[in-house]
Amino acid sequence: AESFDEECDYLFKAVLIGDSGVGKSNLLSRFAKDEFRLDSKPTIGVEFAYRNIKVADKLIKAQIWDTAGQERFRAITSSYYRGALGALLVYDITRRATFENVKKWVRELRQFGSADMVVILVGNKSDLSHSREVNEEEGKSLAEAEGLCFMETSALENKNVQESFLQMITKIH
Ligand code: GTP
Ligand code: MG
Repeated sequence: AESFDEECDYLFKAVLIGDSGVGKSNLLSRFAKDEFRLDSKPTIGVEFAYRNIKVADKLIKAQIWDTAGQERFRAITSSYYRGALGALLVYDITRRATFENVKKWVRELRQFGSADMVVILVGNKSDLSHSREVNEEEGKSLAEAEGLCFMETSALENKNVQESFLQMITKIH
């Protein structure tokens, strides 16, 4: 890891945001460690993970911040967004309220994040199609209206997880 750091071409900071329970921590653990937990606990404060990626011959170290969706556990918002070049804004396709809150998260992003941040709107838990409350078209059109990219994912089935992080990272680049 140390020799990589010396050769690393870029260090990117990205953040995960969205309501509590939408699966932010599991998306990150799937991406960084290929791990998933059905019994994960709500995040308290902030956690980090790193992953090294090669994009077009450049070595990129992605530093990804994962914060609590629950207001009372959230870290100071401005420091969370400081220096972030990308964000995954996550909702849960089986809980409509988490989709309706996306607008609130977009406002926070615009307030605290830099204007040129790459943001991917992510509808997670696509494996739970029997309890879906938000269809894919709604996700797509909200993303279009807000000028974001869009993807549905499943951290459980490891579907589109790498793709959504990589889309964010390659667009920053
Ligand atoms: P906070 O830390 O409170 O903001 O929540 P979070 O967004 O980090 O959610 P977390 O990753 O802890 O996941 C919440 C619950 O959803 C856990 O029980 C996970 O196992 C479950 N979960 C996460 N992703 C998926 C998924 O893709 N499919 C299914 N079926 N369950 C998921
Ligand atoms: Mg969490």
